[in-house]
Amino acid sequence: MAANADHLKALVRAHASADDDLFYSVALQVAAKSARQGQGKFAVELRELVEAARTKQSRTGGRAATPVVQPRGELSSLLTAGYPDIQLDDMTLDSELRASLDRVLHEQRQRARLERFGFTPVHRILLSGPPGTGKSMTAAALAGELKLPLFTIRLDGLISRFMGETAAKLRLVFDAVAQTRAVYLFDEFDALGAERAAGNDVGEARRILNSFLLFLDEAPSESLVVAGTNHHQLLDRALFRRFDMIATYGPPTAEEAVQVIQRRLAGMDTGTVRWDAVTDSACGLSHAELVKAAEAAAKRAILTDRDVVDEQLLLAALAERHASHHA
Ligand SMILES: Nc1ncnc2c1ncn2[C@@H]1O[C@H](COP(=O)(O)OP(=O)(O)OP(=O)(O)O)[C@@H](O)[C@H]1O
Ligand SMILES: [Mg+2]
Repeated sequence: MAANADHLKALVRAHASADDDLFYSVALQVAAKSARQGQGKFAVELRELVEAARTKQSRTGGRAATPVVQPRGELSSLLTAGYPDIQLDDMTLDSELRASLDRVLHEQRQRARLERFGFTPVHRILLSGPPGTGKSMTAAALAGELKLPLFTIRLDGLISRFMGETAAKLRLVFDAVAQTRAVYLFDEFDALGAERAAGNDVGEARRILNSFLLFLDEAPSESLVVAGTNHHQLLDRALFRRFDMIATYGPPTAEEAVQVIQRRLAGMDTGTVRWDAVTDSACGLSHAELVKAAEAAAKRAILTDRDVVDEQLLLAALAERHASHHA
């Protein structure tokens, strides 16, 4: 075979940086070299493969559906990368929230048009609300809809792991925001405000918060910066102004609760369930808890060789969730 060690290394590098043009150009170099070395058949086959792949890719709109970006070096210890394929339609969202999120997608998709007139799309979003109401899931769905990778940064972990170096680590993360178009989820965002409220090293927390705000100001609009928090009240007023949009999450209404359960049980027979009878037991549980209860009921049905989730099974699972919720 005509591909040598350098070719292989170049291929891996091109793959790692998701540089398709480079990848194919190295492949063509290998083809050319093979032809020179008398491996004509292989050269032709390889060239045809590259051409077919390129045509397919330009038909599907340039990039492959899943970009192959992975954080490298130090960055990889600060971020976790994911390639979600969920959509907003997979979520149960109240109409106001859904409209806000649709606006984010619309502005991101029409970015070029807005920028031509000197406007920037919404790209700094704060998601605020109780646990299990879909904040992290929203970041994943935005990434899924925009076909971007999702990078998650756990701020509480970052702060406790790096202490005095936190601001420097944040800079690294925001360098990535500028370099790699993606959705960046800063989870446990309250860690920035909470630490202050808890009266720990106030000066240090202030510095970290200030650098975060500075980075946020400079964050380019190609990437989405999403921050999630449970404790709206702990966060600084000054902070709210820095976001382009604040979306508020809340516990599901009775109808939403039923929808969450029904969606999770879409593959099961729930024909006998009187949904009106379920809403009372569903009340007080978060979206996440409802999903868990639905899963528990479904698994119990399956393991007793049924694909029917009846009302009794569902009510029992919801009651158990309530019990662990209050435990
Ligand atoms: N609005 C929703 N619609 C449908 N499913 C949901 C919704 N919210 C949460 N879920 C389910 O609950 C799981 C956990 O939700 P998620 O991690 O998004 O909650 P969160 O708001 O980020 O909570 P936390 O504040 O604890 O980080 C999701 O993976 C999903 O299965
Ligand atoms: Mg979350």
